[in-house]
Amino acid sequence: MEIKKKETGEAGKMEKIISLAKRRGFAYPSSEIYGGFAGVYDFGPYGVELKNNLKAQWWGKMVYERDDIVGLDSAIFMSPKIWEASGHTKGFSDPLVECKECNARSRADKLLEEVGVFADEKMSEAEINKIFKENKDRIKCPKCGNKNFTDVKKFNLLVKSNLGDFTNDKSEPVYLRGETCQGIYVNYKNVLDSMRLKLPFGIAQIGKAFRNEISPRQFIFRGREFEQMEMQYFTDPKSEMEEYEKLREYRWKAMLDLGIDEKNLKWKKHKNLVFYAKEAYDIEYNFPWGFDELEGIHARGNYDLTQHSKGCGKELDYLDAESGKRFIPHIIESSGGVERLVLAMLAEAYAEDELGGETRVFLKFKPSLAPVKVAVFPLLKNKPELVKKAQEIYRELKKEIRPIIFDDNGNIGKRYRRQDEIGTPFCVTIDFDTLENSTVTVRDRDTGKQERVKTDELASLLKHSIYGERNKS
Ligand code: GAP
Repeated sequence: MEIKKKETGEAGKMEKIISLAKRRGFAYPSSEIYGGFAGVYDFGPYGVELKNNLKAQWWGKMVYERDDIVGLDSAIFMSPKIWEASGHTKGFSDPLVECKECNARSRADKLLEEVGVFADEKMSEAEINKIFKENKDRIKCPKCGNKNFTDVKKFNLLVKSNLGDFTNDKSEPVYLRGETCQGIYVNYKNVLDSMRLKLPFGIAQIGKAFRNEISPRQFIFRGREFEQMEMQYFTDPKSEMEEYEKLREYRWKAMLDLGIDEKNLKWKKHKNLVFYAKEAYDIEYNFPWGFDELEGIHARGNYDLTQHSKGCGKELDYLDAESGKRFIPHIIESSGGVERLVLAMLAEAYAEDELGGETRVFLKFKPSLAPVKVAVFPLLKNKPELVKKAQEIYRELKKEIRPIIFDDNGNIGKRYRRQDEIGTPFCVTIDFDTLENSTVTVRDRDTGKQERVKTDELASLLKHSIYGERNKS
């Protein structure tokens, strides 16, 4: 796998993260036993826990903590007319070039970017071809290093399916959705009417999206199948930009709440806006190859609802009860990828230090986000009385904290290291003192320090350490 190294990059770190992810059950290349399947990854037992925790944090911030945002789960398949109206069937494309020597396909805009030339996504095929040719002596194939390319061709990113196409006649293609927000736009009226909402209000959704990416890259950063967490906020045009600033601030704080160090985040303002957009910023994270897009926050004007109103021939306006005026709401959105956030969290949490004279690797996740919250060990596997007591404590703890695991495999040092590598914040060990005085040791992942704790106080102490004040009891 190619790891790009930008000026601030730590290429070695990325390789370590990919290897840990595979070794410890976070993410595996798709269809690996059949030789793999480019641009798609499967998430293992700890990967799915981490993903679920990140999605729950997002849902908590975007739905539960707000009185003005509701949730939605729209279908992946939608009428193909939606993609016509939104402009995706014509405009949702990347410029593709192929190396004539090794047949590697690349995005022309990304190759141009490497030599300091900015290619705007609005450029026509002819325009981008022209600047590609002007710079062709400086552009090298990332795979073989040659400079012999085909013409640039615009390549549509929508993934076609044959859903319902039983006769294989000339029926319109049905697409797997390229972004989740279109399901929100087309349900705007349903949600507005059924929930009796007033502007401004938002609709949040988490779900799969599919794109025929030309060059999926950087592990799970750019894939062909991924999940988006999108919130579309419907506003009065007069307050669109005020709400936009509030959303930017809100999303920034949500990133900090994940435990991301602020120095690893920055805003990037879009230089060239699509014609309908008022403003667009990305939150960038300092990935091992340098700062790159994590989430987009965009002020989209009334483009989306106007397009769908034209497309379906129905009014999608809003009646303001106070002024009696009708207008099409303006939309601001926040749109982030779950896999990108997983990668950012792995990069943020990855740490190495020396403990007991040995180098160790650990993931210093915020405890509430860790895939496993607690591991319970009997000190010795071959002492039935210790194993029995440890099982008892494990089963009791499991009623209150999840997920937790039981491990009696290998020496205790190795068991600690295994938990460190998946980021388990606390390990509870049952030893001979436990049988004598009903205490256990609780080891802290980050410091490696152990503390003796009474078994009847264990659950509340751990809950407090993992979830904070809200779970003191
Ligand atoms: N509705 C707006 C929209 O979809 P986008 O910039 O194309 O905007 C938003 O995508 C976010 O979705 C990105 O910031 C990124 O986190 C995630 N994303 C987009 N394409 C992706 C891909 N191929 N693989 C993984 N995540 C992706």
